[in-house]
Amino acid sequence: MKLLVVQGPNLNLLGRRDPSVYGTMTLEAIHERLRDRARHLGVELAFFQSNLEGALIDFLQRDAPQAAGVIINPGALTHYGLSLREALVDTGLPVVEVHLSNIHAREAWRQRSVVAPIAVAQVSGMGWRGYLAALDFLVDRIKEEAAP
Ligand code: DQA
Repeated sequence: MKLLVVQGPNLNLLGRRDPSVYGTMTLEAIHERLRDRARHLGVELAFFQSNLEGALIDFLQRDAPQAAGVIINPGALTHYGLSLREALVDTGLPVVEVHLSNIHAREAWRQRSVVAPIAVAQVSGMGWRGYLAALDFLVDRIKEEAAP
């Protein structure tokens, strides 16, 4: 089973971007933890980060046909990225939305997600651990749907 891990704008700066909100772990360190966990679960991950909405969409269009699910932190596109949302719908795959910070406890503009209504779940406020929670949940859900 292959899952896509998609990271939106500015997440390449994790580690030095507002560490009091987003933590001190770099994106690569988070991906390393995910790789370890995926190995343990026996699943394959494909990672992609971009600061461009179109590049995220191109990646989804290209790689989704070989994948079973998507874990995505859309960054600020969460709040207005309708093309990204439509690309996620078009994958036909279960999507788990992840946020390092608790977007519901922040500015009003962050509290609305255009992705949440098309996601099977949202993880918000668990820091880097949220990605591992999303991975565990998504793998479990996909396996359960395949063999209830
Ligand atoms: C974020 C929250 C968004 O509001 C913000 O624009 C980000 C990161 C998070 O992981 O908490 O870039 O998605």
